[in-house]
Amino acid sequence: MRATAEANPNIALIKYWGKADAALNLPVTGSLSLTLDTAPTRTTVELDAALTADELVLGGTRQSGRPAERVSRFLDLVRAASGRDEYARIDSVNLIPTGAGLASSASGFAALAAAASAAYGLDLDGRALSRLARRGSGSASRSIFGGLVQWFAGDDAASYAEPIDRGALDLAMVVAVINDGPKSLSSTEAMNRTTGTSPFYPAWASSNPEQLAEMLAAIARADFTAVGELTESNSLRMHATMAAAWPPVRYPTAASVALLDAVLALRADGIEAYATMDAGPNVKVLCQPRNVEVITARLSSIDATARFLSAGPGQGVRLLDS
Ligand code: DP6
Repeated sequence: MRATAEANPNIALIKYWGKADAALNLPVTGSLSLTLDTAPTRTTVELDAALTADELVLGGTRQSGRPAERVSRFLDLVRAASGRDEYARIDSVNLIPTGAGLASSASGFAALAAAASAAYGLDLDGRALSRLARRGSGSASRSIFGGLVQWFAGDDAASYAEPIDRGALDLAMVVAVINDGPKSLSSTEAMNRTTGTSPFYPAWASSNPEQLAEMLAAIARADFTAVGELTESNSLRMHATMAAAWPPVRYPTAASVALLDAVLALRADGIEAYATMDAGPNVKVLCQPRNVEVITARLSSIDATARFLSAGPGQGVRLLDS
């Protein structure tokens, strides 16, 4: 009746952008990400027969409105699957700024899926947990697993994530946190606007599976340069597709572009660094662990106000004693 789970954020190297089915949260294309070993979300779910509605506390603050409704709708799925109808108290702590493009909905819904399914007495395997987490937030399906993770497009039964062997690839990520403020437009809204109005969306939808296939091949031969180039190219394609929506969807700020330039300059100096961005202004740089320090130093010389985190491959979701 009470369970606690922890999940880490993931950063997509081949992005998910666009829904084939909004109700089931099925993606138009597959995607691939790296689960990080930093900034987890820890969530406790406790059933309480005396409650007349779910209660959500995020970072110590009681939530109402959309975040609370989104979590309640998610718990409705767990209640339906378990045959129990009690409401629950949900207490969640994010060790990264919420809504700042650092994938907090991924770690959030992955932790919630694991804690809620355990608290309601469901015994789900990784695949079932991934499908459940997907219903809360698409990218959360990938945070169920550690390291490199692929999320499949398909119908409700076939759209889950699975870990991929990273072999000899030595991966790290430097995250430049440019802005801690809430993002201007949620990824869900931005995605729907892009699919609905960007004339470039069909090109994104047809080329993303090609880049995913190339990425899988690059991972299989442990070709870091190809993994990095595909990562940066895929992010630029996604943001170009968004920029052509109307009203335009543009997450990079001037500060982001300055860091993208710095990443190009690092490469010109022979340091392998590849940038990727999500639904916010922050820039994440894929690199090898030996270059984390030099990359962080260079980027902080460009942006003295940004905060820098570095991460390696992290583990999937886990239940804690509660
Ligand atoms: C740009 O998973 O947050 O980070 O399914 O609507 O909750 P919803 O969207 P969400 O979108 C993530 C988009 C992205 C790319 C990615 O993580 O693949």
